[in-house]
Amino acid sequence: MATDNIIRMNMGGSLEIKHTGNNKPVLCLGIESSCDETSAAIVDSDKNILAHIIYSQIPEHQKYGGVVPELAARAHILAVDEVILLTLKHAKKTIDDINVIAATAGPGLIGGVLVGWLAATGIANATNKPLIAVNHLEGHALVPRLCAASASDSKTNINVEFPYLLMLASGGHCQILLVHNVGKYELIGQTLDDSAGEAFDKIAKMLNLGYPGGPVVDNRAKLGNAKRFHFPRPLCDKPGCDFSFSGIKTAARMLLDKTPESNIDEQFINDFCASFQLSVVDCITNRLHNALKDERVKNANPKTMVVAGGVAKNSAIRAAMEELAKQSNMLFAAPPMSLCTDNGAMIAWAGLENYKIGKIVTEPIAPRPRWPLTEL
Ligand code: KG4
Ligand code: ZN
Repeated sequence: MATDNIIRMNMGGSLEIKHTGNNKPVLCLGIESSCDETSAAIVDSDKNILAHIIYSQIPEHQKYGGVVPELAARAHILAVDEVILLTLKHAKKTIDDINVIAATAGPGLIGGVLVGWLAATGIANATNKPLIAVNHLEGHALVPRLCAASASDSKTNINVEFPYLLMLASGGHCQILLVHNVGKYELIGQTLDDSAGEAFDKIAKMLNLGYPGGPVVDNRAKLGNAKRFHFPRPLCDKPGCDFSFSGIKTAARMLLDKTPESNIDEQFINDFCASFQLSVVDCITNRLHNALKDERVKNANPKTMVVAGGVAKNSAIRAAMEELAKQSNMLFAAPPMSLCTDNGAMIAWAGLENYKIGKIVTEPIAPRPRWPLTEL
């Protein structure tokens, strides 16, 4: 089994989750398996990532152009034990050193979620340690509190305090949320059809650029002219904070269908990607602009605008949001690139944040394929 992206980081910072008595930081083992990454991490309450292993299944799904749930579940079964053991080894810890076990309990592909969740349950039961059922979206939403920086200065760590305005954009979700506290989310807007990540993936598929589409479209866009083609900005002439991306996808399909194959060269693809990406960036900034005028947001008065989820890796989205935050006298924060896409560290961190407020699993629970943040 190949493991990539082994990260050891020491981000500094502080949080008051401490052992009563010996004042040592609390260590949490977090497990993520909701889509196509089997990942585990050990994170402590002083914001140190002691070890982090991400086993990406992307090569296994690439030939199908997307994640195949049954294959993903089987791959998680084969990988999960080794990923956990490697994580302990890299952290130079044994399971006895760990204080809290956390795992994704939804939302996601249920076969995969079950694998990580049952592994965590088994470890917690066998070692009599507290178990935390982490909502995957809450993992994305809270990881900027573990470590985050601005888009233009990735070295300075920003302390993200509640409440904050969150743009959560991943392969499965696209939402604007007010994050009031751990477990307290207010939905301000969301997509009515595709997620932003899905839109990137579908555009890449149309252009035969492979899976996942986000990184390749982002890279191509850097080489292209965003003004060459005009894609629609759905809902941007309407009030509110909801999104719609399916119209952009249809316009892209129509443009491709009417373009003679001989005209589809490298420059065409780069310009196509840049023009598409600009339409997504414009939709996101337009909707966030409206969110800032929303009474609920104004009343909460968040000081920080945050982007999280796999799409938060997108350089143009990060830059545009940073600019909007600046104009609105807000701080801007984004997780480091390695903590945007699915990872175990965000689950371990969300586990610690939930442990701090006593949200420990006390009786058997059923993992959930759907689990909105507003139902925590
Ligand atoms: O959060 P994530 O790892 O998985 C879900 O929870 O869904 O997000 C994966 C999504 C994919 O759709 C992928 O294409 C997108 O994040 N993505 C990007 C970039 N990197 C990953 N989208 C745009 N630009 C990127 N650089
Ligand atoms: Zn995710």
